[in-house]
Amino acid sequence: MEGLKRLEYRGYDSAGIAVPGAETSKNGKPPKGGNPLVVIKKKGKIAELRQAVPKDLPGNYGIGHTRWATHGSVTDINAHPHLDPGGKVAIVHNGIIENYTSLKEMLEKDGAVFVSETDSEVIAHLVAYHYDGDLEAAVKATLRHLKGTYGIAAIHADEPGRIVGARNGSPLVVGVADGEMLLASDVTALLAHTTNVVYLNDGEVVSMSPTEFKISDREDHAVDPKIDIITWKLEAIEKEGFSCYMEKEIFEQPESIERALTGRMEFEYGSAKLGGLNLSKKELHAIERVRVIAAGTSWHAGLVGCQLMESVARLPAQAELASELRYRNPVVEPASLYLAVSQSGETADTLYAMREIQRRGGSVLGICNVVGSTIARESDGGVYVHSGPEIAVASTKAFTSQLAAFYLLTLSLARMHDMSHHEGEKFLASLKAVPEAVRKSLLARDAIQAIAKRYAHYKDFLFLGRGLLYPIALEGALKLKEISYVHAEGYAAGEIKHGPIALVSPDTPSLFLVPNDYLREKTITNIKEIKARGGPVIAVGEEGDEQLAGIVDEFIPVPKVDPRFQPFVMVPPLQLFAYFCALELGRDVDQPRNLAKSVTVE
Ligand code: AGP
Repeated sequence: MEGLKRLEYRGYDSAGIAVPGAETSKNGKPPKGGNPLVVIKKKGKIAELRQAVPKDLPGNYGIGHTRWATHGSVTDINAHPHLDPGGKVAIVHNGIIENYTSLKEMLEKDGAVFVSETDSEVIAHLVAYHYDGDLEAAVKATLRHLKGTYGIAAIHADEPGRIVGARNGSPLVVGVADGEMLLASDVTALLAHTTNVVYLNDGEVVSMSPTEFKISDREDHAVDPKIDIITWKLEAIEKEGFSCYMEKEIFEQPESIERALTGRMEFEYGSAKLGGLNLSKKELHAIERVRVIAAGTSWHAGLVGCQLMESVARLPAQAELASELRYRNPVVEPASLYLAVSQSGETADTLYAMREIQRRGGSVLGICNVVGSTIARESDGGVYVHSGPEIAVASTKAFTSQLAAFYLLTLSLARMHDMSHHEGEKFLASLKAVPEAVRKSLLARDAIQAIAKRYAHYKDFLFLGRGLLYPIALEGALKLKEISYVHAEGYAAGEIKHGPIALVSPDTPSLFLVPNDYLREKTITNIKEIKARGGPVIAVGEEGDEQLAGIVDEFIPVPKVDPRFQPFVMVPPLQLFAYFCALELGRDVDQPRNLAKSVTVE
């Protein structure tokens, strides 16, 4: 139950557990005639499951799952674990079984009756069908039928203490503790018990008892486990006095950005060094184009990164939506550097796009937060952004750490081309100043809360920015949508006159990000276009900009920084604005409806 609680942040709509029945628990052996498993599952929050679980629940092993509905509505019956008709096999499954309809038909012809609408239930039926006294063998036989993605855990009533797990496309990690073994889709569920973990690879199966575990592939070849040590501390996944994880993570950004930069700035050379790229200086120098593949907030970081690469490192760069790239039949150019950007390192769209590029001979570097995640392991090299665990579904601190990684990479590439040592030093000085500037931008907290109180009831918002602040406008709009469920559109400020300006009215506030460079005047012209049509304007701009403050309805000041670094100081106020609007509207900030933290399905 505690492990499930730790996974709540990933987003779910129901939860359940399966443990051995009372008889098995007494002597470790099932009684003659069988001893069905105990399964308790509930739609809704884990708190509801907890209420349904009796205090004297038997057993010292079991499986559990938080389900995020894909096949079948959100009901108690569709929640996991699922049982076979005999009630002896219980499974939990993360992923999608693509051929479940034909498997179901095949089993139904054999008399099987299904009780749920899920794709997952076929797994329990198939394991029972193949079971002949060896759960591991039955799971392996089952896998031969399955097409799609899965992280599976299975137990059988006749094999007390044994849990068998299998992975293909959905993460699974083994926790090796003293006198107990654990299996989870995410290390946060294990941290309270152990920091020794083994990441399963696709195609691997683990069979575990309290004292040992064995990993093999589907063809039964033994796999040597590599034990990794997790350096995240348990406190990092606690709220530590904040009302929710999102608030904590927003305010943690000065430190998390600092961590992303630490040890990577080369002051002596006015450059940056990113270990882990697995590319020689010559190979880096030969790069002619940069392409980012990512989704959501990570894509927004990529949009900023690509603009920066182009203007500072003078390399053509484009950020692509991973879900689009994969099916677009992309041309993979040999001199392109591909960057897969992902907080979780498990996003299916990004992972599959990365594999598609690799299949075509392209090499992909990962920019990930979660250490040991699939993208981090399968990419050809890469950097960790070191944000620490990001628990809130809405990504905040990972975004600014991803930006930090892009700024470092840009500097190191720029210094191979056009940028002088002196210019490099200036860039580094601005980068070094970022954590403190972000700390200052967070001081606008109370002012932003007051503004959010006044504006949270509006139904539609426009978020507008130009240049490097255009992706920040997209990010601000995404944050507001995600956690407050208020409609918000992010747009390039110069583009609104080509259509969206028709939305402007006293009921549609516009939130402008006003840069402190050559685009300032242009942006102010766009503000005036909105004001002339009666639209309320909230502006985020440089502190002391009295002229700007004088023409808008609300002004949020951010500290003065080098214009190229404004994305760092502009995004925290937007995160806070979304957060306070969500609070005002009584939303569940950390676990917004319909969303999952790592989207491991297509
Ligand atoms: C961010 O607030 C979102 N929850 C979402 O857009 C997220 O950024 C996206 O799903 C990509 O996730 P990743 O960074 O883990 O790959």
